[in-house]
Amino acid sequence: MKRERTQVCIIGGGPSGLLLAQLLHTIGVDSVVLEQRSREHVLSRIRAGVLEQGTVSLLHQAGVGARMDAEGFTHDGTLISQGDEMFRIDFTALTGTPVMIYGQTEVTRDLYEAWDACGGRTQFHAENVTIHDADTSAPHVTYRVGDAQHRIDCDFVAGCDGFHGISRKSIPEDRRREYEKVYPFGWLGVLSETPPVNDELIYTNSDRGFALCSMRNAQLSRYYIQCSAHDRVENWPDDEFWAELKRRIPAQTAEALVTGPSVEKSIAPLRSFVTEPMRWGRLFLCGDAAHIVPPTGAKGLNTAASDVHYLFEGLRQHYQDADDEGLDCYSERALTRVWKAERFSWWLSSLMHRFPDQSEFDRKMQIAELDFLRTNEAAQKAMAQNYVGLPY
Ligand code: APR
Ligand code: PHB
Repeated sequence: MKRERTQVCIIGGGPSGLLLAQLLHTIGVDSVVLEQRSREHVLSRIRAGVLEQGTVSLLHQAGVGARMDAEGFTHDGTLISQGDEMFRIDFTALTGTPVMIYGQTEVTRDLYEAWDACGGRTQFHAENVTIHDADTSAPHVTYRVGDAQHRIDCDFVAGCDGFHGISRKSIPEDRRREYEKVYPFGWLGVLSETPPVNDELIYTNSDRGFALCSMRNAQLSRYYIQCSAHDRVENWPDDEFWAELKRRIPAQTAEALVTGPSVEKSIAPLRSFVTEPMRWGRLFLCGDAAHIVPPTGAKGLNTAASDVHYLFEGLRQHYQDADDEGLDCYSERALTRVWKAERFSWWLSSLMHRFPDQSEFDRKMQIAELDFLRTNEAAQKAMAQNYVGLPY
């Protein structure tokens, strides 16, 4: 068995793991990233592109903000429509803060390029990753590459391996509490090399179901329609997707919609999920390994970023000040913000989607809440504060 040592062993080479590795590098703390897939696979994932200011600041702190600054663009608000009625939430006027539109795939690509540039070590195709002795002062991680067995001795393990990873399950079941809500629908998403229908996002609540008009850049649009949780991509040829999207968005928007061939088409399930605690001994969970949100509020990456911020600050305190206060408070601090992101994502999903078992009264409540949001500044300010990102 090949053995090595590092200070922080990071399981998972997605945005959480890479951002933590890069931040640790800025203070001279050594880490190794273990990723079960290939870099190409990781970079092939299409994910939301709305960044909170806190995420933008963290990327700058990690020295990974240049391309985002050059190619990303800020949005000062978003549109919300119900039928043909549309209104705008002005983030900047209500909170002083815009959001950054920059694809998550690009964030991950920038993180990999920075990690390469500083000689950071990523082991791709790491199989059978297993955490040992996390509840001792000397944890270690084993994994296999091909036929070769490896062992990494470390001070800490960061579980950044997403919802389907092994880190969360490495915490004994009797020490974990899990909370979950599975939504009775999914999102059918299409990427098309067409100009976005609007220069800001449009969230739509229509009698036929939710729709979202988003974008990656001036020539790359991202659209979603709510679909059955059991639907399949094969059931949606491009022309039927465009026709259904046009039925759901306001008429004037549908007239302006530029359609084109889909370059990516996929269906994502919607789930709210949290595991508590986010720490067990020297194992710390970050990002999707600990929590999942429905994509409605674009909180997945942004909540992973605040986890990384809290864990990085705790590790910095440990290594620079020999003080474990930040690590000891990590789970409580992270979960406080996680639950607020879960609440906002659940609230916006409940407001904007048609539920199969929805009664006429429930539908009236949705329409009344949308009307209240349209006409009440305090309601709009509360939504804007959550959307642009609550403080860390
Ligand atoms: N061993 C090693 N790596 C693993 C293992 C494992 N057992 N299981 C999963 N992984 C890898 C996955 O291949 C993936 O690249 O961990 C990574 C987890 O990345 P994400 O699922 O993207 O989760 P995270 O980095 O927390 O990102 C959070 O970004 O990707 C989005 O939807 C996600 O919005 C969320 C945010
Ligand atoms: C996206 O552009 O993919 C996107 C934007 C906002 C969301 C969800 C997804 O709320």
